[in-house]
Amino acid sequence: MTPSTTWLKTLSAGALLQLACTAYAADVSPDTQAVGTVAAMTLDEKLRLVFGYFPGEIKGQRPEAGGVPMSAGFVPGVERLGIPYQQQTDAGIGVASQIGARPRERTALPAGIATAATWNPELAYAGGAMIGREAHLSGNNVMLAGGINLLREPRNGRNFEYAGEDPLLAGVMVGEQIRGIQSNHLIATIKHFAINSQETGRMQLSAKIGDSAARMSDLLAFQIAIERGDPGSVMCAYNRVNADYACENDYLLNQVLKRDWGFKGYVMSDWGGAHSTIPAAMRGLDQQSGWPFDQSPYFKDALKEAVQNGHVPETRLNDMAQRILRSMYAHGLMTHPVKIEGEKIDLAAHARISQEDAEQSIVLLKNKDGLLPLAGADKRIAIIGGLADVGVLSGGGSSQVYPVGGAIKTDEGYYFPSSPMAALAKRSNARLVYIDGKDVAAAKALAASSDLVIVFATQYTSETWDRREMSLPNGQDALIAAVGAANPRTVVVLETGSPVTMPWLDQVGAVLEAWYPGTSGGEAIARVLTGEVDASGRLPATFPASVAQLPRPALDGVTLPYDARFEVDYDIEGAAVGYKWFDKNQLKPLFAFGHGLSYTSFRYSALKATSSNGGIEVSFKVANTGQRDGKAVPQVYIAHHGAKWEAPKRLGGWRKLSLKRGEEQAASVSIDPRMLAVYDAVAHKWKVTGGEYTIILSEAADAPLASVKVNVPGREFAPGARQ
Ligand code: BGC
Repeated sequence: MTPSTTWLKTLSAGALLQLACTAYAADVSPDTQAVGTVAAMTLDEKLRLVFGYFPGEIKGQRPEAGGVPMSAGFVPGVERLGIPYQQQTDAGIGVASQIGARPRERTALPAGIATAATWNPELAYAGGAMIGREAHLSGNNVMLAGGINLLREPRNGRNFEYAGEDPLLAGVMVGEQIRGIQSNHLIATIKHFAINSQETGRMQLSAKIGDSAARMSDLLAFQIAIERGDPGSVMCAYNRVNADYACENDYLLNQVLKRDWGFKGYVMSDWGGAHSTIPAAMRGLDQQSGWPFDQSPYFKDALKEAVQNGHVPETRLNDMAQRILRSMYAHGLMTHPVKIEGEKIDLAAHARISQEDAEQSIVLLKNKDGLLPLAGADKRIAIIGGLADVGVLSGGGSSQVYPVGGAIKTDEGYYFPSSPMAALAKRSNARLVYIDGKDVAAAKALAASSDLVIVFATQYTSETWDRREMSLPNGQDALIAAVGAANPRTVVVLETGSPVTMPWLDQVGAVLEAWYPGTSGGEAIARVLTGEVDASGRLPATFPASVAQLPRPALDGVTLPYDARFEVDYDIEGAAVGYKWFDKNQLKPLFAFGHGLSYTSFRYSALKATSSNGGIEVSFKVANTGQRDGKAVPQVYIAHHGAKWEAPKRLGGWRKLSLKRGEEQAASVSIDPRMLAVYDAVAHKWKVTGGEYTIILSEAADAPLASVKVNVPGREFAPGARQ
């Protein structure tokens, strides 16, 4: 609800200015503060707030407005009213740098998909708080982070920035990251709203999807994250959705986000994502970003003219300015001004936060005969490929962080200088021998003469382009097959941004998915390999067996010219994203959503479920029955046969539990009523069908352990009802 402004009309100009200047010092709501400030602003001052600049050089132009070099955006302030400038930096993995001669060096978390793989909301919060602190100390008060587009396309070049395929898992993890970032008095920007699922044709494609399917999948992920994290801003996406550009999409911005969900913050465009003045303003865009990325400065003189001519009512411009100011007040931007104080960053402490995130994100996919953890008896260990002698891979594009100590630049991405081989050498008495794996015969010979082999396989992915295949590039499949054939005691460590296929799986002993593990990635990988910490990551996305299993085996748009407009039909799977698609079509993936082995074993018991407040309360016990301390990730899925669900089952909740050897813990999970509901696009409501639901306690989407039935009453609730 926008607060009424009628009372302000009774105040004199002097009184208004007084109100604006003192507003943030007083104990009044950010809404009231913003309303007061807007009332004191001139037309030109309001226009200043809704137009952002790119601080670097682009298209041969350098904007006049200033801003911290290496950052992504700058919005001037209004000194007269004490409104600070907005200094915007990318992104979800840490404080990124635009390319330049001297990029700023900061701590990088593991990729977003890796943090999701921890299934640990506390780590998502801690990582967010850490990168937010670095952003603030780097002179920024807006962080362009929380990437949350659901993984509908394993070849998407930006999957590494997001949080996997499930709306609940992604919503909780990204919501917690945003909460962490904003604990530093800055605004986080959840993105890219919405259905921005592939990079190919990202500026041209139209995502076709029905209202109900969208609200039960990608939009639900945003909704949960926004409720949990309360971001000050939402970034609308490059692509079109059902024909209209996301940044001038009345359905997405006005109807879903602002009306149904009651979002009080502002919508900023992606850099080059604005396409008009009047349609964009009237359909919900509040701030044009990154000029001169767009074709035209739509929200500058053209918007002024539109307001003066009455095509855009001044009340709408007031609303834009008020939303921006409200977020600035709500998140402490007025009271905690930024300055560049990079020297105050505690890099050692931040490296440890990144490392813990990486350790808990690493997924042990296969472990034949307990090959891992490394036993210590091996005298000669071959380390092959992946530049494991120097570092770990990172994902590319605007989210690229430049690490302390400098990045190692290759044709296939930047490597962070945290060598898994060096970290392993510190922990092992074996002789470690590295070769790059380009010569397959040499790799085979080394493997055959070694006690154990560790192959590091990489898949570089980046913003602006997609992978054509799901397989590992550059002949690595053939290399691993050859090495595995020469020595079955072969461990494969994957550094990938997305699911990959593994035609060599039967020929190797163990596989670890380490994602892009961030600036302390080498240490984290070594600690999991040696068993200093348990392998406790679980897949946040299905690993398909082949592209033939995907809703769209051929990637749309790859054969078209760059500027061709085309449609991607997401109604094929609708809300049945990832494991839901696999379940519905009875497809067997290579590795299921939620899969991940531990070095210990667990026993689950006492599963109970009761209906409560429209949702379900689930309780159970978990005991560590193995020989080591470890971490269990019990997952609760729900099935219902009467309701028209998009797929046979949905994730309803999970816990990540640390259990000492021999320890047993009781745990509980509360299931949000939306996880039981179907969104009825005609009635404009969530509807829960009354009846019997099956609660399935599982170790993965394909690994049920026990189930109970519970009766839930039928119920309906509004699209934005907070649960
Ligand atoms: C990306 C955004 C990013 C922006 C600013 C765009 O190309 O899509 O995610 O925040 O650039 O760098």
